[in-house]
Amino acid sequence: MPRVLMCPPSHYAIRYEINPWMKITHTVNPAAARRQWDALSSLLRRLGVSVTLIPQRKGSPDMVFTANAGIARGRTFIPSHFRYRERQAESAAFTRFFKRKGYRVVDAAKGLYFEGEGDLLSYRDMLWGGFRYRSELSAHEKVSAALGKRLVSLELAQPRFYHLDTCFFPLDERTILYYPGAFDAYGRRVIRRFAENPVAVGKADAHRFACNAYRVGRKVVLNEVSRALKRRLHALGYQAAETPTSEFVKAGGSVKCLLLKL
Ligand code: ARG
Repeated sequence: MPRVLMCPPSHYAIRYEINPWMKITHTVNPAAARRQWDALSSLLRRLGVSVTLIPQRKGSPDMVFTANAGIARGRTFIPSHFRYRERQAESAAFTRFFKRKGYRVVDAAKGLYFEGEGDLLSYRDMLWGGFRYRSELSAHEKVSAALGKRLVSLELAQPRFYHLDTCFFPLDERTILYYPGAFDAYGRRVIRRFAENPVAVGKADAHRFACNAYRVGRKVVLNEVSRALKRRLHALGYQAAETPTSEFVKAGGSVKCLLLKL
């Protein structure tokens, strides 16, 4: 049974601007955010996902984006080191949580910026790391070495797609969905070369966080996207399970950012 960690949005808000999506004046509707989050977590549970919860720290409005907590593999947790001071207090809360759950905490990225699963994703026997805006390439080297995995590094090239999971979605062993506009020519070449079936997502869908998705069996959970993309998924043997995340897009995140794989 797949397991994820989520954080209910008890103190979610836009209190600062650390990526181009965030505008303090573009306020969150807390009730709507709660509804969207509840719908997402119930949908995951209905699909058979076990959802573990961590309470939100009062002074950490972005803590709902648990993908950035670090990386959990087996009983080991590798904590992140946030680039921006605004999110740094989350680290202690996440680390305390994992320790209490009996995980071994290995600080593989010590002294380096590393934003967890937001920037480091598995595809086949490789880890794919996105660097530049948040995580550092050398952090991914250290984490991959600690996990004994080969690393493929991709430089992110567009500030709106500041985390790898905003523009890169390994759907299964064959297919990677990605937004070409978020990478440079070299990055696009690397993706096309290593992925058996690279599928380019269009600009409008990318801006709706179509790549910020989570697959459970034959279902792909994601924000509302175009009919064309849904047809594309269908042709690949999958069904889109849309769930609105507009309140979280205001902070620059969607489905995949709101969960951490356990
Ligand atoms: N406002 C958050 C930030 O800028 C959003 C994080 C989104 N998370 C992700 N995995 N892409 O840090």
